[in-house]
Amino acid sequence: MNANLKVASNAMDKIVALCKRRGFIYPGSEIYGGLNGMWDLGPLGTLLANNIKNEWWKSIVFSRDDVVGLDSSILYHAKVWKASGHIASFTDPLIECKICHERFRVDHKKDISEHENMHDKPKWTEIKPFNLMFKTYVGPIDDEENKTYLRPETAQGIFINFQNVVNSTRVKIPFGIAQIGKGFRNEITTGNFLFRVREFEMMELEYFVKPGTDDKWYEYWRDERINWYINLGIKKNNIKLVDIPKKDIAHYARKATEVWYNWPFMGFGELEGIVNRSDYDLVQHSKFSGKDLSYQDEELNEKYTPYVIEPSVGVGRALLAFLLDSYYEDEKRVVLKLHPKLAPIKVAVFPLLANKLPLVNLSKDIYYNLKEQISGMVAFDDRGNIGKRYYFQDEIGTPFCITVDFQSLEDKTVTVRDRDSMKQERVKADKIFDYLVRKL
Ligand code: GAP
Repeated sequence: MNANLKVASNAMDKIVALCKRRGFIYPGSEIYGGLNGMWDLGPLGTLLANNIKNEWWKSIVFSRDDVVGLDSSILYHAKVWKASGHIASFTDPLIECKICHERFRVDHKKDISEHENMHDKPKWTEIKPFNLMFKTYVGPIDDEENKTYLRPETAQGIFINFQNVVNSTRVKIPFGIAQIGKGFRNEITTGNFLFRVREFEMMELEYFVKPGTDDKWYEYWRDERINWYINLGIKKNNIKLVDIPKKDIAHYARKATEVWYNWPFMGFGELEGIVNRSDYDLVQHSKFSGKDLSYQDEELNEKYTPYVIEPSVGVGRALLAFLLDSYYEDEKRVVLKLHPKLAPIKVAVFPLLANKLPLVNLSKDIYYNLKEQISGMVAFDDRGNIGKRYYFQDEIGTPFCITVDFQSLEDKTVTVRDRDSMKQERVKADKIFDYLVRKL
């Protein structure tokens, strides 16, 4: 292994270990030996994922007046997947080893060559398409009529509700419908921790525009989305936009760009997709459902089927990028330098000594006050010594630690320690909230 890759795979191992040790992420069904491609979010991972989803929702829905939200069911009528093209085209080319029956994606050359080293002469089957959708049955009878699929993307829930949203709200083109929800893909090969899994949450926006204005909006969303990551702390040299050649884009796409992150295990690769889906989906659903899904533009007095621009990212893949990018270590400490908006715990409060009641009482007062005032998690810790508490909070990315000491009892000031600079400031106890609001 070359030196760079070794350092990189080390970084990934450290993140995986930290996630398990501190309760960010656990292997799915671990006590039964695990279930491939499944991971469970622990207490801190849940907070981090919620913060990522909140920031996405804030930037896509709350801060704008042209996007509304939706939360559709996970199971759709099977015809949705016929119309969308997923039954015919949501496939990966697969070959099977005739000796041990293990299957591989044809484009995963490294796995294939490793397998070729394992068996002396593996005999490969011919290439077959493999559909990535999980099948299930609705109702008690497992037959073709009741068969449907767990959704591999949330987007179709938006397209099939397009007319409902237009009729029941005051949206006007251009407008978007945003959705956060689970997607499922029976990936042939999973791996690299949260990077490729079989069940994951997706954050998807379908932004409907007048045909002819789609290129402008496509450019607009490319910029918006890369800036979202940079504003939340991803280093500029670790992220870029890459145009995807026509031959490699999804069956529904007219144009596609990806936001690429510099992953330690592969170098630059996909973090998020931004696609011009044209009117493909609405036209298909119109055809298959027999319902008119066109849009009456009152201002232009024109009827048309809108085009759609779609930024789409997996919560877990984004979470992994934020964790990797914020990881820092030196001889003394390990730190997740997460943006304060993403940090699972915003502030931790400590009494200098756990056995001095006046210190404990004052720090508990501060803790309960902050818990009410701050929108985000506040922690209290009186275990071990101060050094160990700082170490623990640095490792989980808590931006500020407040310590109540003997001086606090005299002048009602406390120390506030900054995670990144490790600098400490004395702040009046009754001004901590204002201080933190400014910093957070
Ligand atoms: N609706 C568009 C769509 O589904 P996609 O590029 O197939 O597009 C969107 O998926 C995003 O979902 C990806 O950019 C990635 O962030 C995430 N994603 C896709 N497959 C994934 C998997 N198996 N594991 C984790 N995340 C995945």
